[in-house]
Amino acid sequence: MNHEAVTVIGLGAMGSKMAEVLLAAGHPTTVWNRTPGRAAHLIAAGAAEAPTAAEAVAASNLLVISQLDYAAMEDSLQGVDLTGKVLVNLSSDSPDRLRQGGRWATERAATLITAGIMVPPPGIGQPGAYSFYSGPREVLEVHTSTLEALGRVDYVGTDPGLAMLYYQAMLNVFWATLTSYFYSAALVGSAGVSAGELRPYVATMLVDLAENGPMGFLKILTAEIEAGHYSGDQNSLHMQAVGSEHVLQAFTQAGLDTTLPAALAAIFARTDADGHGQEGLGSIVEMIRKPAA
Ligand SMILES: NC(=O)c1ccc[n+]([C@@H]2O[C@H](COP(=O)([O-])OP(=O)(O)OC[C@H]3O[C@@H](n4cnc5c(N)ncnc54)[C@H](OP(=O)(O)O)[C@@H]3O)[C@@H](O)[C@H]2O)c1
Repeated sequence: MNHEAVTVIGLGAMGSKMAEVLLAAGHPTTVWNRTPGRAAHLIAAGAAEAPTAAEAVAASNLLVISQLDYAAMEDSLQGVDLTGKVLVNLSSDSPDRLRQGGRWATERAATLITAGIMVPPPGIGQPGAYSFYSGPREVLEVHTSTLEALGRVDYVGTDPGLAMLYYQAMLNVFWATLTSYFYSAALVGSAGVSAGELRPYVATMLVDLAENGPMGFLKILTAEIEAGHYSGDQNSLHMQAVGSEHVLQAFTQAGLDTTLPAALAAIFARTDADGHGQEGLGSIVEMIRKPAA
């Protein structure tokens, strides 16, 4: 098998692991990092360390970039000839910043593929790892078998901002879910109940929310969002808005931080005030689409 040469730009926690995984998959790998001295273990594994960004770019047609943000890419590659290069950037930034990065690459006769990687360093290349990719599909397809060393390649569309939009949508669910669990653990903890006693109930609820759970709420509410109709027959938004005030009171009474429960109560109250009180929980999405001025 003929392995494609790859240059990895950025040797932080993520980039180092990516280079390691690409080397292990048999790709001739060149590495470069703004601060030198981070490549010793990669050189030992067979990587070539380029002394300059220009030499790193010259070494491969495919550049895998993992840095703090997109400004780092533009800083690092300023003045470097990028003609004909394929830049696959797995760094985080805002969707508009990715779109700007796409134009920046085009102006330099290069192609940018944007990506949002959904695993931390130890997960890179492991079963279940995946990334969202956006940009020109035909260019991505040429390099898909190489990029699959990092995990599954999920193409989400031409718009370069889409990879981050998916990534951020997923992070939002991840952070909001776990942060709400932390608040709940603190709430029961205020009465001497351990997080371990609460955990099985939370675990069951998360399974139930998922598509295959007995209640399948996620599936039901997704259908409602897509139809734009939110059934409140059994549990109206107004009733839940009142309930969210009770949750807020519970945190206040326990002497805990109320940032999250107050935000939830405010979200419910605004949706109720917008006239969705007799609809269901999913009507919150309508309020989100009409942000307060
Ligand atoms: N860690 C995770 O679990 C994870 C998961 C998914 C996505 N991400 C995303 O992956 C990206 C990298 O994360 P990381 O954990 O590897 O970060 P990190 O360990 O902090 O490494 C940051 C890298 O960016 C480089 N850098 C920063 N500013 C630069 C600049 N102006 N010019 C050139 N290079 C610059 C650093 O170079 P120096 O060594 O010279 O400082 C370093 O190589 C981030 O966008 C992050 O959001 C991380």
